[in-house]
Amino acid sequence: MEQSTKLGSNKTGIDMSPIHSKQMLEGIERFPLTDTDTFFARQTLKQTLSEDAGSLGSIPLPATVKGVGKSILKTVTGHRPEMFINKLGERLAYERSGVRVYEALILKCQFMAANGMAENEIDISRLKQFRNQEAEHMELLVDILHTLGADATAQTPDADAIGVAASGLMKVVTDPRTTIAQCLEAMLTLELADNAAWDLLIKLADDMGHSDMVEKFQTALRQEDVHLLVVQQWHEKIVRSQASLIS
Ligand SMILES: [Fe+2]
Repeated sequence: MEQSTKLGSNKTGIDMSPIHSKQMLEGIERFPLTDTDTFFARQTLKQTLSEDAGSLGSIPLPATVKGVGKSILKTVTGHRPEMFINKLGERLAYERSGVRVYEALILKCQFMAANGMAENEIDISRLKQFRNQEAEHMELLVDILHTLGADATAQTPDADAIGVAASGLMKVVTDPRTTIAQCLEAMLTLELADNAAWDLLIKLADDMGHSDMVEKFQTALRQEDVHLLVVQQWHEKIVRSQASLIS
């Protein structure tokens, strides 16, 4: 069984070097952090935040106000269609990331199983099913954006932000040193956020009066519910067995 918690020569803690840690603690006493230091740290942050960094981009409205573009703008009177497009773009970016992260995990599991590096803890065919469903969700969002007259290839501001967040999860899974349990922890983060975001998207579609979309999004959320449940069970099973002396 793979171990995320094997004992080894970890040198990151203060206890590894009693002499240096004693000197460091003496240094802290001699040169205590003053209010001025924290003030300057805050000032630096404030300065960074106040710099004219602009925004993460803009929300693309339909390229033309003809045809479907016009109809969507009409149907959402009283609402901000650009915010809906922003969130649809975000979901599209996250589902795309989901496909890639699942793909990476499938390859990792196959490699580890083939090389006897880990017990076959998780069902790879199930992983493939989840990856395919994430791809279907992506296609659904592309269709919806086209229906609204929006450009599905445009990166919206929230798509940009969530893409950066998902890149951290991808790093965990593609790091050759990470265990399946550590990867599943990242997948759990991915699926928890995925779940909450679909829930929000359903509410937004409902607010905008798009009952047809609500139904389609609810189908996607039901599939996401299964992803979350199964990933959580796999993760729990592996971690608990690693923590158990019996195994
Ligand atoms: Fe999912």
